Amino acid sequence: MKEIIRIALDGPSGSGKSTIAKRLSSTLKILYLDTGAMYRATALKAISLGIDTLDELGVSTFIDDIDLQIKYVDGTQHTFLDGEDVSERIREPHVSMAASNISSLKCVRLKMVDMQRKIASEMSCVLDGRDIGSYVLPNADYKFYITASVDVRADRRYKELMLKGHSVEYNALKKEIEQRDYNDMHRDFSPLTKADDAVEIDTSYMSVEQVIGKVMSYLK
Ligand code: DC
Repeated sequence: MKEIIRIALDGPSGSGKSTIAKRLSSTLKILYLDTGAMYRATALKAISLGIDTLDELGVSTFIDDIDLQIKYVDGTQHTFLDGEDVSERIREPHVSMAASNISSLKCVRLKMVDMQRKIASEMSCVLDGRDIGSYVLPNADYKFYITASVDVRADRRYKELMLKGHSVEYNALKKEIEQRDYNDMHRDFSPLTKADDAVEIDTSYMSVEQVIGKVMSYLK
């Protein structure tokens, strides 16, 4: 049996990737790396420095030395920026678009991809993101492209944010998701795309159990 197994889960925001990745990680007892958290933390760093998240020159002044660490506490990923656990702060709504913007910068992607490949080289893992199967780990053992309609994704994100106590306006949220989709799919360097050899799963009308069942059927 192969020693290290790598599973790539890509797709647009709100498609259900992280739910699936967490379940796969606990069922298969392998690491889960949420790569979006790394772009979010990088965006937070730029915001704290007052640097525009689309200003490549500005971002390039800190990216090489960014103190960004991923640690696991009881199996759950925690993201540390400059020694502070920012796992909650990076989920705040204003960070989402900032992360999408900063992730379009080549200097940011090169740095993040480097870190992701290093983590993935050390142990079996499931990574979720936008370019895992197409760019970060083109030789991943299994690749899935998880998608859902924009309405379903906006509904899911709306409920999630409401549960966390954020007040959001549904139509603005849906618009933002569409804008992020566009950004993520149209950036020059490693855009969100389905790898040719990825299995596409549309989760719009599927329960979590159904999606897990489908993914697991490929792993057996
Ligand atoms: O998955 P998420 O919503 O937390 O990701 C936040 C942003 O980070 C997303 O809009 C695009 C970017 N991202 C990326 O470009 N590549 C990845 N592998 C993961 C996320």
